[in-house]
Amino acid sequence: MGKFIIEGGVPLKGKVRISGAKNSALPLMAACLLTEGRCQLKNVPQLVDIITMKKVLEGLGSVIERENEGLKIDCTSLSNYEAPYELVRMMRASILVLGPLLARLGRARVSLPGGCAIGRRPVDLHLKGLVQMGAKIEVREGYIEAYAKRGLKGDNIYLDLPSVGATENIMLAASVARGVTVIEGASRAPEIIELATFLRKMGAKIEGVGTDSIRVEGVRELHPASYSIIPDRIEAGTLLIAGAITGGEVVLKEILPHHLGIVLAKLREMGMEIEVKDNQIRILGNHPRPVKIKTLPYPGFPTDLQPQMTSLACLAQGTSIITETVFEDRFAHIAELQRMGAQIERKGQMVIVKGVPFLEGTIVKASDIRGGAALVLAGLAARGVTQICDIHHIDRGYERLEEKLSRLGARIKRVEE
Ligand code: EPZ
Repeated sequence: MGKFIIEGGVPLKGKVRISGAKNSALPLMAACLLTEGRCQLKNVPQLVDIITMKKVLEGLGSVIERENEGLKIDCTSLSNYEAPYELVRMMRASILVLGPLLARLGRARVSLPGGCAIGRRPVDLHLKGLVQMGAKIEVREGYIEAYAKRGLKGDNIYLDLPSVGATENIMLAASVARGVTVIEGASRAPEIIELATFLRKMGAKIEGVGTDSIRVEGVRELHPASYSIIPDRIEAGTLLIAGAITGGEVVLKEILPHHLGIVLAKLREMGMEIEVKDNQIRILGNHPRPVKIKTLPYPGFPTDLQPQMTSLACLAQGTSIITETVFEDRFAHIAELQRMGAQIERKGQMVIVKGVPFLEGTIVKASDIRGGAALVLAGLAARGVTQICDIHHIDRGYERLEEKLSRLGARIKRVEE
């Protein structure tokens, strides 16, 4: 178990390159299961979650080589259809192999992911969509037992909410199902667009991505393709907030600004100066003004930046209101921020953050990826030294975060316990 030791109070300055997007790389890795032959993914971040997905695919019989910043994934000879509990419990996104395995092999056995630090996180919408496409699904002893001996058939599927994972799983299965599948109430997130673009390169027929109605015309088979992963919009947002909370001047390189529209708008509302030029964003941090934020499915404010913005709001000149509508319990970071002197009151899905003049470094604990990142940001701004324990949570979603921050002048070091 490792920890970060941060000496706060240093305004960050400099340029940083954003890594490839974890939440785009994971579904694209699962998509490789749909075809024989070797796919190539470039700009894949070196993260614990990517390593876990690599183990899941290798357990199914895939042959995967890492080369430079990419992966070569060959799923020609799948010899297994089970994603085991010990891997799925480490990373919920393992559930994304369910649709492809059913489509490819007509059989899948995937451990129920179980909840995590941010909520129950059921997969009922994934299962409901696949059953509508003809799969027979039972849940037995903590495992999803899924069968589709006669293959899958297209159908009109209505999602009760725009679940990113359910949209991905159904789109993956529908790409080689018999007939047409329409997903109504689909997620509009960039990661959905990226998955559809990769599937199209493999020969899939998909339209409507980016809207809430996606139409997939199943094809007999797909072929391998290569693809470069987009920059990680959540890492980008996290580093922008790092520049903001330390009153520094940070430039992000090689990013897609249009994926961060509402995030830039909210940072501007809080008084930050932001300049967007081509694929770069420059932020000049000022003493933050209070803000009202409500997380919503894309293009609404991303839930994955809610904890980080809460840290920034702790130092605002006034009272901010932050409401989390996507996950029912994404507030583990609040108690830790309170230990640093933050004035935060939780009322159901809302937190009322009364700005304080400063936060004080102390020992705190990460309990999920983005909550951990929020504590790093608070530590960068706090007086004195902050020790963040259980940073393995952070390593799941950020590639060498301490190196990126150190290059911007932060006094942060990793200590392996
Ligand atoms: C993806 O998770 C991301 N993970 C999450 O990022 C992100 O927070 C989330 O989308 C929302 O944007 C990956 O892409 C690997 P959902 P996912 O299905 O697909 C409920 C991070 O930190 N729901 O859109 O699991 C669910 O409980 C992670 O990188 C159902 O009720 O999110 C949640 O309340 C955290 N039934 C809401 O929908 C279902 O069948 C949104 O979940 C599925 C979801």
